[in-house]
Amino acid sequence: MISNDSSFIPVAKPWLDESEALAAQRVILSGWVTQGSEVNKFENEFAAYVGANYACAVSSCTTALHLALLAVGVKQGDEVITVSQSYIATANSIRYCAAIPVFVDVCSITHNIDVDKIESVINSKTRAILCVHQVGMPCDLQAIIPLAKSYGLPVIEDAACAIGSEILWDGEWDKIGKPHGDIACFSFHPRKVVTTGDGGMITTNNSEWDKQFRLWRQHGMSIPDTVRHHSTEVVFESYPVMGYNYRMTDIQAAIGREQLKKLPVMLEKRRHLADRYSKQLIHINDIRLPHQPAWARSNWQSYPVTLSSSKLQRTVMQMLRDQNIATRRGVMCAHREKALGLDERYEWRCEGFYAGCKCNPGSCEKLQNSEYLQDHQVILPLYHQMTESVQDVVIQSFDVCIASSHKSMVATSS
Ligand SMILES: Cc1ncc(COP(=O)(O)O)c(C=O)c1O
Repeated sequence: MISNDSSFIPVAKPWLDESEALAAQRVILSGWVTQGSEVNKFENEFAAYVGANYACAVSSCTTALHLALLAVGVKQGDEVITVSQSYIATANSIRYCAAIPVFVDVCSITHNIDVDKIESVINSKTRAILCVHQVGMPCDLQAIIPLAKSYGLPVIEDAACAIGSEILWDGEWDKIGKPHGDIACFSFHPRKVVTTGDGGMITTNNSEWDKQFRLWRQHGMSIPDTVRHHSTEVVFESYPVMGYNYRMTDIQAAIGREQLKKLPVMLEKRRHLADRYSKQLIHINDIRLPHQPAWARSNWQSYPVTLSSSKLQRTVMQMLRDQNIATRRGVMCAHREKALGLDERYEWRCEGFYAGCKCNPGSCEKLQNSEYLQDHQVILPLYHQMTESVQDVVIQSFDVCIASSHKSMVATSS
């Protein structure tokens, strides 16, 4: 993401300045740098922001997802319904529990899980639904939650990208993370709208799960070290359950608190830039712009454009890169990676599994939309500090690149 060339336009850029630097300095000089009072304050502020009863800070969204799956009781051999088209961490978190990811295709319009395909994969081994708000666009919780409830299945939301995104719920705009499902998990990686360098947050309204998360994130230790540190009496801790080191540090939390203060301004700017992209790219032939349903408000963590041919994807991206403009291809598909779908040691399932579907290595006919989007999408630069004139450079260059790569494609094929 970092380039020293001032004309370079990155695909994303965190908005960090003196306020985060001073917050980090304050914590460092306090002498308490691991999980402590700053984490506690960040959790309270985060819970209030999204409207959840509880928020528990952890080291990443991946570790958040792992704990969420454990909390709802996912065990070895269980099946968890999710999408392949997501960052690989979504599927990996299921594998950390020795459970099996069951991939449902995404909808060709919303690019989120195709709700109509969920029911056909539910069976006696299904333990949970792990839905993803992909690149910040809310998935259809209004349809997913009643369906899950009718089968007694918990819903975990992978909200890695969705801080500040909203859905219309009973006539009100609610923040993702409220939680509408049972548990929501967020990421603070620098590609996300709010960053702490790395980090994650778990929100829920279930106090028992929240207690579990706090125990698990700190080695299963019965007494937090802050309590032991401040006690005037000698305290011996115990370890009633196996835990993990999934802690967030107070330095990260202090940075996160500053980022949360900036979030409303960041959202306004991102929505403005996304709106400009939508208005100005609409005249380009043969591309599809992202669809925002009337019941959703994205935080526009990313702005993906779908090209008409997969042959154009690499060409257009390289042409833009040659002009110092960074882009990324569409979100990956986990089932196409050696670390998962292409290695027979690793089990995964698709919609056709119980009907004897034999997917080709790297290609699954049941996950066609997912594969199509990975191969046809280009993610354009979008970040808070982007000026309208920089965005105009991206729009014009993209327009020219599409036109000229179309021409050369037609020339080669004739
Ligand atoms: C949808 C999704 N889930 C999970 C993750 C993992 O987040 P983290 O890097 O905080 O573990 C990401 C990160 O890109 C993501 O995009």
